[in-house]
Amino acid sequence: MSSPMTAPTDRSILIIGASRGLGHAMAAEFAGRGWRVLGTVRAPATPLHSLAAERPDRVEIETLDMTDHDQILAVRDRLAGRQFDIVFVNGGIANRTPGATMAGVSTDEFVQVMVTNVLGVMRAVEAFGALARPGGVIGVMSSGQGSIANNANGVNDVYRASKAALNQAMSSYAGRHADDGRALVLMAPGWIRTELGGSNAPFSVEEAMPQIVDVLMAQQGAPGLRYLDRNGRTVPW
Ligand SMILES: NC(=O)c1ccc[n+]([C@@H]2O[C@H](COP(=O)([O-])OP(=O)(O)OC[C@H]3O[C@@H](n4cnc5c(N)ncnc54)[C@H](OP(=O)(O)O)[C@@H]3O)[C@@H](O)[C@H]2O)c1
Repeated sequence: MSSPMTAPTDRSILIIGASRGLGHAMAAEFAGRGWRVLGTVRAPATPLHSLAAERPDRVEIETLDMTDHDQILAVRDRLAGRQFDIVFVNGGIANRTPGATMAGVSTDEFVQVMVTNVLGVMRAVEAFGALARPGGVIGVMSSGQGSIANNANGVNDVYRASKAALNQAMSSYAGRHADDGRALVLMAPGWIRTELGGSNAPFSVEEAMPQIVDVLMAQQGAPGLRYLDRNGRTVPW
């Protein structure tokens, strides 16, 4: 269940990739907690548009495909001067043939997953991270499947590799921004029923999202990079 509606606040979050699934649920959860939400979409009619129609005082929309660097720079320019308590890059994809090993995946599919989940996400972090207020949070949606230490069964090679590469890239970003006072979060949300997660996932979006949001909010004012699950526990790298 999402949290009960609370009074509006001046707190705000930028969510990259908020059209549907976990990103949309995050937008709804923060709006329900009274935050202002700026979410990005690629398509002209999405669940985020419905949320914005219901909560025009709380929810704004920008259009952005993270794989298009010019679009990232254009949105960054439009948002110049804005500040957010949390900047969260949620967007991501799985390869269409999740069982494919590195030997089995097509080059095009491998490139698409890596360009979206690593290059696109990190370009968004580089472009929008500076909009997070001092003491605020920059988060990205990683996955428990990005953990090398926990990879015991060897499935989902390409998706796992993309999230492990994302974790490594965030670690580099953290090294370059060690003194800027923001919290950096790699979120492993658990296996959740969305289009990407599929119908066999054990958890609903409604169960998971309040916990994810609680963990993000708790990182405010706590600088440094953490790889956390939705209960706030550290995931082994
Ligand atoms: N569900 C799970 O079990 C699970 C577990 C671990 C991690 N995750 C991660 O959680 C994030 C959200 O996944 P989900 O389960 O909510 O999947 P989803 O329902 O398939 O939603 C994916 C989201 O990412 C956006 N997106 C994809 N490519 C993009 C791009 N190039 N530019 C901008 N946005 C883009 C999609 O936008 P469009 O509507 O425009 O396609 C959509 O909003 C992903 O990073 C995923 O890897 C999910």
